[in-house]
Amino acid sequence: MSIYSKKVFLVFCILFFVPEFSVRADAPDPVRRKNGMVVSASNLASKVGLQVLKKGGNAVDAAVAVGFALAVTYPSAGNIGGGGFMVIHLKDGKNITIDYREKAPINAASEMYFDEKGSVDTNKIQEGVLSSGVPGSVAGLIYALEKYGTLKLADVIQPAINLAEIGFPLEYRLAQSFKSYLDYFKKYESSLKIFSKNGLPYLEGEIFKQPDLAFTLKQIKEKGRDSFYKGKVAELIVQQSKKLGGIITLEDLENYQAVERQAITGSYKEFEVVSMGPPSAGGIGLIQLLNVLENLNFSKAEWGSSKYIHVLVEAMKYVYADRSVHLGDEDFYPVPKGWLLSKRYSKEIFGKISDEAIASEKVFAGNPKLYKESEETTHYSVYDGQGNAVSTTTTINSGYGSKVVVDGAGFLLNNEMDDFSVQPGFANQFGLIGSKANSIEPGKRMLSSMTPTIILKDGFPYLIAGSPGGSTILTVVLQVILNCINFKMDIQEAINQPRFHHQWLPDQIDYEEFGMAVDVIDNLVKRGHKIGQIKSLGRVEGILIDIENNIIFGATDPRGFGSAEGY
Ligand code: GLY
Repeated sequence: MSIYSKKVFLVFCILFFVPEFSVRADAPDPVRRKNGMVVSASNLASKVGLQVLKKGGNAVDAAVAVGFALAVTYPSAGNIGGGGFMVIHLKDGKNITIDYREKAPINAASEMYFDEKGSVDTNKIQEGVLSSGVPGSVAGLIYALEKYGTLKLADVIQPAINLAEIGFPLEYRLAQSFKSYLDYFKKYESSLKIFSKNGLPYLEGEIFKQPDLAFTLKQIKEKGRDSFYKGKVAELIVQQSKKLGGIITLEDLENYQAVERQAITGSYKEFEVVSMGPPSAGGIGLIQLLNVLENLNFSKAEWGSSKYIHVLVEAMKYVYADRSVHLGDEDFYPVPKGWLLSKRYSKEIFGKISDEAIASEKVFAGNPKLYKESEETTHYSVYDGQGNAVSTTTTINSGYGSKVVVDGAGFLLNNEMDDFSVQPGFANQFGLIGSKANSIEPGKRMLSSMTPTIILKDGFPYLIAGSPGGSTILTVVLQVILNCINFKMDIQEAINQPRFHHQWLPDQIDYEEFGMAVDVIDNLVKRGHKIGQIKSLGRVEGILIDIENNIIFGATDPRGFGSAEGY
């Protein structure tokens, strides 16, 4: 287009179209479709989900297909050897959450992770088979499909089988990811076999085939969840675990069940918030933060100001202090949900926020008795255009989990045991500390920060979002929600914006590169804040629905390499 015709086009647009969004230099428009949308961290997996929607599957069918596909195309986090949470909003108005978080093996005990001096040995809890919890993903995905899907398992798992068997060309960032973890894979023969070519890194564009994983997926297709929890695959898991000093038994696998739990709900302004409850700290923490922030209204101009960052950070300190004491697996520990989620308690937190930063050492978890009454996880969002929405976050914990592939079965085991509080005061890989509520107990689910969320407006899905990022997940999700609701950003813009994070301990604000101008930092320091590290915070995969105009907007996070696919 010549400069002249560009000008004519621009004048035409200004005269005849009402622009939906302000003109920006920092973000392309989100993907905009009418009938359905799938957003995940892998474009191949997003396309699998889209095909399922196009064939008439509902959002749950598509989400389950994406879940299995991610295990093949995004192995650092997509998985069948880990766990996750699925939050579903059905067109009939029901909110459902499915918990398929990993569980501590029945023989697990904190002492197993100590060295001779009684100190935590991070090599044991963060890597290798001893760091693995009993996987829940296969149980959870099949549970969701059977209860809320409309298609057969064979139909939704076949695309993943094809991707594993026929293979796919490695895109640059995936090939780079395998290369950057090569030293880890060299420690485990079974892993090196999968993620390298006889010890040499794969190159961009080379076809990546996973015949062992194709075998496992075919077993699941033919024999259902029992093949994984009782059959040949279960035997291979136990064999691998035993060989490398792990403790997962056949009994652990046989006993594993996905659980449907009541959704955690709250409100923010005129919106309803639906998220994941314990064993995730995400939903409760997100709603606590939104409750606190409801007491304030920031103008558009205040976005990114030191005042805005200050208030959010102060609220984060209180919420993470509560997390460290009150949150854990509700099957083992009574989480004071009602109190934590109450507007009254959040008002009290808000009342403690002054113009000056409070030192984290002076912030303590609230006491419910005084009242009457968290590369690498991955998220995907699906909307089917019929009113059904699915928000799923799944994980094997660190990038490539325990780094151990189950030999013969072709998938990685998680290193989720590090999400437990192994010793009071000991910070896990995310710097999180905990207490009895999240101590290791046989059969217990470790506390998570995953925050798969659906925001409803007038009862209809408005925003579907979630993120990886360990302890940072809920503050990342919070900021995207605030960007959409308060600052009227479109979903792509809301996701692209630089973010910040505070988790009470360590007492510091981490932030993204170019995320805080130097005078903003100066002002925060004057208020008493400590400035931490510059790092990437989260990778949000989001969908925003404009019900009135029947438009579905999808956006993948530019921090990753996923895609939004719709029709
Ligand atoms: N493994 C990270 C989380 O669940 O929070």
